[in-house]
Amino acid sequence: MLAAARSQACRGLAENTALLRPLVDRFVAGETVDAVLAATAALTTDRLVTIDHLGEDTHDRAQADTVVDAYVTLLHRLGDAGLTERAEVSVKLSALGQALPGEDADKIALDNARRICAVAAEVGTTVTVDMEDHTTTDSTLGIVAELRAEHPWVGAVLQAQLRRTEDDCRALAGPGSRVRLCKGAYDEPLSVAYRDRHEVDSSYVRCLKILMEGEGLPMVATHDPRLVSIARHLAEANGRGPEAYELQMLNGVRPDAQQELAAEGLTMRVYLPYGTEWYGYFMRRLAERPANLAFFGRSLLSRS
Ligand code: FDA
Repeated sequence: MLAAARSQACRGLAENTALLRPLVDRFVAGETVDAVLAATAALTTDRLVTIDHLGEDTHDRAQADTVVDAYVTLLHRLGDAGLTERAEVSVKLSALGQALPGEDADKIALDNARRICAVAAEVGTTVTVDMEDHTTTDSTLGIVAELRAEHPWVGAVLQAQLRRTEDDCRALAGPGSRVRLCKGAYDEPLSVAYRDRHEVDSSYVRCLKILMEGEGLPMVATHDPRLVSIARHLAEANGRGPEAYELQMLNGVRPDAQQELAAEGLTMRVYLPYGTEWYGYFMRRLAERPANLAFFGRSLLSRS
């Protein structure tokens, strides 16, 4: 499934079948800015949101510029709609040029991310930089460090499945830092990653401890009820109220739990993707939970 997420042939097939649409719609807010603004307005009645303009692995500079323009438009529209206190954006550096051939790729991605951060600052919101596969970790953390020099509120993402992540948590647990901790959605080799689910979960708890004991804002991105409960205990043990950490979940995943946790007074942020380039994101969501395929199968049967 994760290999298919990067296959152009599978992508063409998937994009041309309307049968996938109901399942895609469960995770993705729609294809347009209007659609994502409507979804954001609805979600922000009780939760916070981080919006992702879908797209990754941009191999052409013009396409990277188009992605920046899309974020600039989105940010201005969020400002006009008065949503910037409750909604920020998430960006993937590979969509901004990090995956372009040539030595300038990191600089192009950094310059593009700077443009997005400048507009976010202007409209009064924040940006979190998503983490992609392990070959990009050093480059991504380097770019985040440069962005944070100008905008200390720029958020980083760390993946508990990577063996290096405890060290990265220590490096990023300082005052003012915003760190989203997730398990990791990429198929990584044993040399750099834990591949056993229990090992990933143990690593998640060790990383969470470091972030909760630190001075930044931990953003606990998981749908795993056991880890959510551990996060709540660790927050309490470290004297953190609901304003001093965030729980984060993906749009369409455990929505009832999202609402219940928000109703308890906890800070819950929903990762809300939109746009036409849904294929890679969608395939990673299928890979995370085989039951999603059963859901798809049932919807096919009910149509036949
Ligand atoms: P786990 O996969 O063990 O799931 C726990 C339970 O949650 C499942 O039993 C099921 O009930 C439910 N669940 C989980 N995924 C589901 C799905 N797709 N459909 C239906 N139910 C599901 N990764 C990354 O590599 N880089 C990144 O930048 C980000 N960013 C990010 C932001 C946010 C807000 C979240 C929540 C997640 C990410 N991720 C990510 C994805 C993350 O790495 C991971 O792949 C998923 O969150 C699934 O892992 P869980 O921690 O939820 O546990």
